[in-house]
Amino acid sequence: MRTSGERCSSKSWITSTQVKNNKVETLEEANTIAVMALDPNKIRADFPILDQEVNGYPLVYLDNGASSQKPKAVIDTISKYYEHEHSNIHRGVHTLSGKATEKYELVRGKVRKLINAAHEHEIIFTRGTTESINLLASSLGGSAISEGDEIIVSELEHHSNIVPWQLLCEKSGAKLKVIPVDDNGNVELGAYDELLNDKTRIVSVAHVSNTLGTVLPLKEIIEKAHDQGALVVIDGAQAVPHMSVDVQDLNCDFYCFSSHKMFGPTGVGVLYGKEDLLNELPPYHGGGNMISRVTFEKTEYNELPHKFEAGTPNIAGGMGLGAAIDYIEALGYENIEAYESDLLSYALEKLKGIEGLRLIGEPEEQACVISFLLGEHHPSDVGAILDRQGIAVRTGHHCTQPLMDRYGIAGTVRASFSFYNTKEEVDILVAGIEKARSMLG
Ligand code: ALA
Repeated sequence: MRTSGERCSSKSWITSTQVKNNKVETLEEANTIAVMALDPNKIRADFPILDQEVNGYPLVYLDNGASSQKPKAVIDTISKYYEHEHSNIHRGVHTLSGKATEKYELVRGKVRKLINAAHEHEIIFTRGTTESINLLASSLGGSAISEGDEIIVSELEHHSNIVPWQLLCEKSGAKLKVIPVDDNGNVELGAYDELLNDKTRIVSVAHVSNTLGTVLPLKEIIEKAHDQGALVVIDGAQAVPHMSVDVQDLNCDFYCFSSHKMFGPTGVGVLYGKEDLLNELPPYHGGGNMISRVTFEKTEYNELPHKFEAGTPNIAGGMGLGAAIDYIEALGYENIEAYESDLLSYALEKLKGIEGLRLIGEPEEQACVISFLLGEHHPSDVGAILDRQGIAVRTGHHCTQPLMDRYGIAGTVRASFSFYNTKEEVDILVAGIEKARSMLG
């Protein structure tokens, strides 16, 4: 991630305290060390899938916003689990079940530490960000929202942070309000101020835009919402793969993210919520594990986090998520952020040099996600030509149709990077786009 001020300057990715601890003289020197600390060629060896040809060319995987690839450590953890450790959890008295339960619960602790939640029981495992947001929209709908209340989202939200709230509005009679986005892809905070009022019950926004890479000014958004007594939900799916997140420092009420975008397996995700709020909310799904006592007259619910975890979870997925967290922590977010910031600056500079290429959004603060159009050419034509050269990008509306409407376009070409991508791959992308330009005329 980098801010616009960092594009051409040496603004620091590393604090002066770290400089002192690392015993280096200048911030510039420290930043160079941080970039070097993360060697993408060594890292790439951990990701078997990257070592292959697609359509006769070495794969250049730039679709990390859709789903990241998995290091061998994650793949091996899942295999080992099924080969040696599988059993249902939270149920059996037998040894295998006890061990699986213990290991699965260790992952909850890893997630807590990763996002600095206060308690492990504030970490609810779900199937992914989409389910986390749907859980909230459903459970908050029971008590927190009624006719005339207002829910605020932003114009750059993914459909998964729009539609669940629309469903809640339809059920409750609440109104959905939208913070507009400016031409550069920043949310308009002045307009946000005007939308907030004492009817605002929920503000639900992305941490990072999946389409533009915009990093939203969360602290300001959260503080203003709280001043009005509203709850704040953060869709962190695109943030956790790129930057360290501290939910206590942000002071958000809920934070949602997916394992598969952060180098873990698909089908598992996280809902973080503040303990007192989760205690107040009614459960989402009913079934086994989420109860403490069932009779036909009345059911008493289990304590947190189990109250929200009905049925057998994706145990192997959870184990894989734990391995992904270990992998990220071994690399270190400081190194990831420094490396990706450098890569982003390089990619933006190179892409801007392509005749007829128009960046969609140049936000003040941007994660390693870039959307663009090439002349009047349809994004899917550009994407198909890139694919023929082994370059994987996403094209289309990226599940953000209202944002596309905002810019009056049907879609974009999106290159979304990770720490295993290299400047050489940026050069290949640039050459690929040049080829598309000459082929499409
Ligand atoms: N949300 C995913 C993306 O942005 C699928 O591509």
